Amino acid sequence: MDGHRERLKAARAFIETAYAELGKSAEETERRLREAERDIAEKGRYDHTEEELRHGARVAWRNSNRCIGRLFWDSLHVRDAREADTEERIAEALLDHIAYATNGGKIRPLLTVFRPAADPRGPIRIRNYQLIRYAGYETENGIVGDPDSVAFTKLCMELGWEGGGTAFDVLPLVVQIGERTPRLFPIPRDLVLEVPLIHPELPAFADLRLKWYAVPIVSNMRLEIGGVSYTAAPFNGWYMGTEIGARNLADAHRYDLLPRVAELMGLDTSRESLLWRDKALVELNVAVLHSYKTRGVSIVDHHTAARQFAQFEQRERGCGRDVTGDWTWLVPPVSPATTHLFHSHYDNRIATPNFFYQEALPTAVSEAEPCPRG
Ligand code: ARG
Repeated sequence: MDGHRERLKAARAFIETAYAELGKSAEETERRLREAERDIAEKGRYDHTEEELRHGARVAWRNSNRCIGRLFWDSLHVRDAREADTEERIAEALLDHIAYATNGGKIRPLLTVFRPAADPRGPIRIRNYQLIRYAGYETENGIVGDPDSVAFTKLCMELGWEGGGTAFDVLPLVVQIGERTPRLFPIPRDLVLEVPLIHPELPAFADLRLKWYAVPIVSNMRLEIGGVSYTAAPFNGWYMGTEIGARNLADAHRYDLLPRVAELMGLDTSRESLLWRDKALVELNVAVLHSYKTRGVSIVDHHTAARQFAQFEQRERGCGRDVTGDWTWLVPPVSPATTHLFHSHYDNRIATPNFFYQEALPTAVSEAEPCPRG
């Protein structure tokens, strides 16, 4: 955001709305507006109070058009890590995030916010897409692990990480401050809760030796609140089963497991019209939900999530707010037309506060270093 006027406008809009939603008096709102205006005029920036940060982060979730889980926006825990100023301190806060969010399986929605991009000490970036994710390796026999992680895995290895070469190696944290070389921090094993996948009626399912991690912590998005950009603000909820069972493990460009599940089920795969993919897909999703539930790890099925979203829509309208949404993301990838979402229309307008994609940094270490001249 450039220019004092733009910054001022964004700050004002946020403070006015947030303070009204928080039930603050007109005097307090006015006082805060004057203060923010003065700070922007004098230093070119204003700093959020912890309360503004908490509410701003919650509203960013509420405004996330692609998220079906927004009923719980108001219960997001927010941790203020703006004082973390070294890679080590940042990594420490990230490990704390993993532990607090995991909570032995009773997952707590949490966002940890680091200092804003405009800080004179340089912007912070977490290079991981999610704090916990599996590596992907290109080998002669094709990709081992998560194909979506291949580029990031290469970066980790250039930085000195040695992967185990299995299909489920948890990647290290990669923290970068400004133009400095990114730093690696392995995640202690005992911090990463994982769920081995079993099926309630197919004992042989366990022989596939599949698993997934408990907590999806998106860590590469920019959080924008009142004109202030937080380039490092990892956040998590809990999984909806289809994210794992219908995408991560099923997509042909991810773990591509439908053929193996079908084989295990003894399905005839000679013709598409037998719908063996669909049958395998449903059982894979049954296995995911069953396994997480059996292990006491929070997860939601897509029918329940859709109903919770309907409740969110109702509640928002009750508060006099319009619900924005991205239909293409909101409809679940399994049995979409069984949910009300499929039969509804959503306005995909982007309100702030919100989360935004940010430009990818150069992946190779050599690219990150200054070019030799001559
Ligand atoms: N779809 C992503 C994954 O499968 C996670 C995105 C965030 N999901 C969530 N339930 N909060 O890893």
